[in-house]
Amino acid sequence: MTAPIMALRGVNKSFGPIDVLHDITLEVRAGEVLCLLGDNGAGKSTLIKIMSGVFQPSSGAIEMDGVNVTLPNPRAASEKGVATVHQFGGTFPLMSIGRSFFVGVEPAKGWGPFKVYDRKRANAIAVKAVQDFGITRIDDGDRLVGGLSGGERQSLAIARAVHFGARVLILDEPTAALGVKQATHVLRIVNEAKKRGLAVVFITHQVMHAMAVGDHFAVLIRGAVAADFKKGEKTREEITDLMAGGASMASLEAEIEGYMASHGGHPPQPAE
Ligand SMILES: Nc1ncnc2c1ncn2[C@@H]1O[C@H](COP(=O)(O)OP(=O)(O)OP(=O)(O)O)[C@@H](O)[C@H]1O
Ligand SMILES: [Mg+2]
Repeated sequence: MTAPIMALRGVNKSFGPIDVLHDITLEVRAGEVLCLLGDNGAGKSTLIKIMSGVFQPSSGAIEMDGVNVTLPNPRAASEKGVATVHQFGGTFPLMSIGRSFFVGVEPAKGWGPFKVYDRKRANAIAVKAVQDFGITRIDDGDRLVGGLSGGERQSLAIARAVHFGARVLILDEPTAALGVKQATHVLRIVNEAKKRGLAVVFITHQVMHAMAVGDHFAVLIRGAVAADFKKGEKTREEITDLMAGGASMASLEAEIEGYMASHGGHPPQPAE
């Protein structure tokens, strides 16, 4: 088996006296989606910030292609092919699609024409990259990013990462705020990125979303990897329970679904 594109080996992270991550070992491979699951505050965002150079591990190692690396800042991570779409946006609502596509891309990296911003060319490249991912509704690079739907915005960010040669794509809850249709769209794009050979790290709270794209799953509980398993090795119920820290959530979820089925799709309401 080839070395994983990226691996964490015994990574710990504390903020002052607060231990947030304990002895994390994880591998991400080309053409695979690793789903990172866990309850609020489990440490998922902290973990991927270590993978993307935002935070430094307190101890432990990061490897890329089997070689120890340090990622002192986000730029260093991005130069090594790690692209991250962080939780809560990271895009620029008042910028055009074409403009936002090229933010942070240095002219020195071969983008000669953008020493002077070439609007038409930037728009054409951005629109094509997004359309290549099947988002044909985006056909005008002058449109503002803020006018895109949440799903389109996520798709744009993913298309951008792939276009600029990302090898590891990290997505922090890309489907959290989306409706069913848009979430499906983002999941399709995640699958497309995987088909193109990227290693994807996908954070979600929604077990169905995880099961739709995941090849490999890691569940974080209070900063430690509580379970690490492959597709097909656990049922939806087992995963749901694990994500809730071992509590029996699956039966509660089934009860709520049963209630909704018999009440015209309405969830139970708290008493007045
Ligand atoms: N800079 C920081 N200083 C101190 N504690 C922090 C810092 N960043 C995160 N934490 C703590 O680390 C823990 C993990 O936070 P993190 O954001 O990684 O969780 P998460 O799994 O992404 O949660 P969510 O599902 O809500 O996004 C939390 O208890 C949080 O308060
Ligand atoms: Mg988070």
